[in-house]
Amino acid sequence: MRFSDKVLFATGGGSGIAAAVARRFTAEGGRVAVADLDGDRARAVAAELDGAVGLACDVADEESVRAALAAAEQQLGGIDAVLSAAGHAEFGPIEQWSLERWNRMMLVHAGGTFLVCKHALPLLRRRGGGSIVTVASVAALVAQRDNAPYGAAKAAVLGFTRQLALEVGPQVRVNALAPGRTRSGMTEPIILARGDGDLERGSVAFGAGTIQRRVAEPDEQAAAACFLLSDDAGFVTGATLVVDGGETVV
Ligand SMILES: NC(=O)c1ccc[n+]([C@@H]2O[C@H](COP(=O)([O-])OP(=O)(O)OC[C@H]3O[C@@H](n4cnc5c(N)ncnc54)[C@H](O)[C@@H]3O)[C@@H](O)[C@H]2O)c1
Repeated sequence: MRFSDKVLFATGGGSGIAAAVARRFTAEGGRVAVADLDGDRARAVAAELDGAVGLACDVADEESVRAALAAAEQQLGGIDAVLSAAGHAEFGPIEQWSLERWNRMMLVHAGGTFLVCKHALPLLRRRGGGSIVTVASVAALVAQRDNAPYGAAKAAVLGFTRQLALEVGPQVRVNALAPGRTRSGMTEPIILARGDGDLERGSVAFGAGTIQRRVAEPDEQAAAACFLLSDDAGFVTGATLVVDGGETVV
């Protein structure tokens, strides 16, 4: 019960990795504000969880972020932890990218992380401190074909995380999770296609480049994120936790 009496604000919580973090955080005694661009999905995830609230929130819109955090604080009594996981993936050769698509990629991932941290910090300080986990990707660490704008946006998240850790410590710890291939709303169509419609076969095919020879389940990312969110990680700040089945070491 690492999170009893704790409240988590989780962006992207309507699906995938952040929904799994919301479930695990609740199972360990905490309460969660599940925030997502898709308010219906956020409310559906929250409805499964004791004490949770679901909120519509676009992390690329400052007023939306400010309002969602204020609503979460008001409804749950305060915020102790933040997971900034909202995001989208888009691939393709760079000549086919418009500046508008590039800007949206940077705005959602780098800008969204900045906005969520900026407006969460006063709330965390009101509770005496807290823990922030941002979500980058192995694409911030190694080159992947046709993935330059996403990799650039995630590298910005990593740089921001390190800088912010210095700025807001020791009261607030700030760490990044860098997931490798993980089954989620974002990747399920790719995994299914690789497995000719079979998820398990697709997991092995899409995860063939990892030491674990499969993709991660969302709960495996949630376990790592919850470690960083918890007091178990009391001396961990400014760090990047790579959870990729060994993909980036081979
Ligand atoms: N799945 C993977 O293999 C993988 C690997 C590395 C990093 N990531 C990162 O993990 C994070 C979570 O992704 P996931 O895999 O769970 O995918 P997902 O598609 O299942 O979940 C992402 C959620 O973010 C929400 N979202 C998108 N744009 C938003 C916005 N502007 N404001 C608020 N919410 C928004 C979506 O509605 C969705 O519910 C993302 O940042 C993603 O880039 C995923």
